[in-house]
Amino acid sequence: MAAEPATVCLIDDVFWIILGRAPSVIEAREESRSLTPDSMRTLRLRLLASPEFLQIRDAWREGRDPYADPHRVERGLSSVGTPTEFVSRAYECLLGRPVDAGGLAHYVDAIAGGDTRRQILRALGSSDEFDRHHLELAPQSDVLLHDTQLCELANPAKWDNPEWVSILRSLGLSDDKRSMHRKPYEFAQLVYGCRRLGVLREDAHIVSVGAGHELVLYWLANHVRRVVATDMYEGVWQDVQGREGDPDVLRRPEDYAPFTYRKDHLAFMRMDGRHLEFADGTFDVAYSLSSIEHFGGLPGAAATVHEMSRVLKPGGILALATEYVLSGPPHDETFQPGEIAQLIDQPGLELVQPIDDRVYQRYTYAAIDLYRNPYQTPHMVVRFNDTVFTTVMIFLRRARTDR
Ligand SMILES: C[S@@+](CC[C@H](N)C(=O)[O-])C[C@H]1O[C@@H](n2cnc3c(N)ncnc32)[C@H](O)[C@@H]1O
Repeated sequence: MAAEPATVCLIDDVFWIILGRAPSVIEAREESRSLTPDSMRTLRLRLLASPEFLQIRDAWREGRDPYADPHRVERGLSSVGTPTEFVSRAYECLLGRPVDAGGLAHYVDAIAGGDTRRQILRALGSSDEFDRHHLELAPQSDVLLHDTQLCELANPAKWDNPEWVSILRSLGLSDDKRSMHRKPYEFAQLVYGCRRLGVLREDAHIVSVGAGHELVLYWLANHVRRVVATDMYEGVWQDVQGREGDPDVLRRPEDYAPFTYRKDHLAFMRMDGRHLEFADGTFDVAYSLSSIEHFGGLPGAAATVHEMSRVLKPGGILALATEYVLSGPPHDETFQPGEIAQLIDQPGLELVQPIDDRVYQRYTYAAIDLYRNPYQTPHMVVRFNDTVFTTVMIFLRRARTDR
């Protein structure tokens, strides 16, 4: 049955007021099928929650004109009726209530004084009353979905998570996706995970194993009670690229600080990760980034994980980043997936969640040839000849009960 002209007119009014356009033929047909007071309410709800309207609302808030062709919109709004009818309908559409006498007089006068109908909509749509009403109608409409996985292969999706990106920026690192790299990923993911797991507290004690002079130590010193950086600070790492194991940091840690930090919250100690010189249950967090693969194969790495677990308080968090082979033959200082499983299968430790090891089944990538040019970015997947690998980030919790 064809809709009455009056109801079609009503649908047009709602579209012009909320979206600044007429309904398409399909929209008009769908909406006019069953017109009841309830369906008009549904139409308002649907349009006010639509991304198309959210863009208009954002433009109102920022003082921009939301319409590509303002004159066309003004002509459409003129079709809504007399100034009194227009203001009444604008109240119903945007504020969900009948207009009051004061509001009606004010806006009808404004139109008589030369204000455009678009200006009336902007005034209503920028009001506190509208914000409250909209929040009640569509409380989730501003929420975007973000990837929040903690245990995973280095994941490009994190660069789309605003909370994660703000950590990256607070570390002083670029959020430009072209400079995507496993190292910034490890730092930001460590902080993100610790924060989500509730262990990044002002009273927390943290130990890093194979720490070198990594940037995140200085960031943590500004956020927790005590950070202890441990490393052998000897051998090849003193000289190879990046001088990550430079022993000078033991004497002059401030020379390596990327920003001002709380000096009395950070200590550097020479120590073998396989034999930590701390009492059982000392720390809230024990972590190691891109190091344990250099500690003597799987036995050395497993001994280190065992030690890190021992020095954790019950319920403490052990965070690990290491090399995870995606394809190809075994290669020194990388781990095959089965070896990673063995490494973390230790009594008293459990994963905080299953590891998402399918990240690179969802992305196209080119593995950076580390022998040829290791400086290229995005630097998320790399290779030594045919061994293609990336970082795996793992968070484990030490059992709360005594072992
Ligand atoms: C690739 S670097 C990583 C440094 C730092 N974690 C980072 O991400 O910049 C590896 C570090 O492990 C250290 N290392 C090697 N064997 C170690 C061991 N048995 N115990 C503690 N640290 C060790 C090296 O001195 C070096 O600083």
